Amino acid sequence: MKTLVVISTKGGVGKTTTAVNLAALVADAGKRTLLIDLDVQPTLSSYFKLTHEAAGGTFQFIGWNETRLEEIVSHTSIPNLHLIKSNDDQNQLANLLLNAADGRLRLLRLLKAFEAHYDLVVIDTQGARSVTLEMALLASDIALSPVIPELLAAREFRRGTTTLFEEMRTYEFMGITLPKLNIFINRADFISVDARLITKSLQRTFLDDPDVRVLKTPVPGIASYRKAASLSLPAHRLESKKPSGRKAPAALDTMKLLAIEIFPEWKANIQSITAETLASAAVQEE
Ligand SMILES: Nc1ncnc2c1ncn2[C@@H]1O[C@H](COP(=O)(O)OP(=O)(O)O)[C@@H](O)[C@H]1O
Ligand SMILES: [Mg+2]
Repeated sequence: MKTLVVISTKGGVGKTTTAVNLAALVADAGKRTLLIDLDVQPTLSSYFKLTHEAAGGTFQFIGWNETRLEEIVSHTSIPNLHLIKSNDDQNQLANLLLNAADGRLRLLRLLKAFEAHYDLVVIDTQGARSVTLEMALLASDIALSPVIPELLAAREFRRGTTTLFEEMRTYEFMGITLPKLNIFINRADFISVDARLITKSLQRTFLDDPDVRVLKTPVPGIASYRKAASLSLPAHRLESKKPSGRKAPAALDTMKLLAIEIFPEWKANIQSITAETLASAAVQEE
């Protein structure tokens, strides 16, 4: 089981969009995938229609150490894609974690109960530094961060994340490895600027940083991501083919490339998802 956390100290950069679409693509590649919504504003929790809704969510999971799947895991309309919904409406978890002896290490321990059940866990977080975010980082193998294509945003991002990772290094003395940080350009404009140039400049910014990898796949800014959200669908299912006349590739092709960069060991499974396999799966699901 691999654990990936989507982070950014900024809001509105596309964390939830990334968590949802990456997790759903990997689920469509046949991998058992669990989404965990650690944002107190539960955008992710309401993204998909649920075919089974568990009574509990993150409050019982993290607050009460509840790991029985039937108590906390909901099933989405996407086969292979499960969810632990966010139900910390009073924002009590952060305080609880600050006062708990195992605080920032709790999720790392709790996730061990899911090893046999999932191939991938994807955690969505809030756009601010918090104890919850730090706990999610310590529980993850991979951190993924969308960066919007503005030079200033990239510099600010670098300052914020460098400080965060430096401070978290203390845990390495305890034998806990921090996740490798992968960043990619989100909402790239395929018309007026060359997304590849921005990726190159971002790569230069992080050249001397061995802990950061800049992914080669830019995610274009296209209406389909917002539209998919309003239809409760992953973008790759809504847009499996490139609309004629548009420069930016189809959401399916973008998400496949991004997923293969992050999970090269699942390349064959991911590549096997095509507009045709999705169409026949849709018929069976009905
Ligand atoms: N690549 C993209 N192209 C177009 N719109 C996007 C893209 N990524 C995210 N969005 C939109 O931007 C808004 C904020 O994204 P969201 O994922 O909720 O950000 P965050 O979770 O970081 O706050 C949403 O309306 C979403 O649909
Ligand atoms: Mg969000």
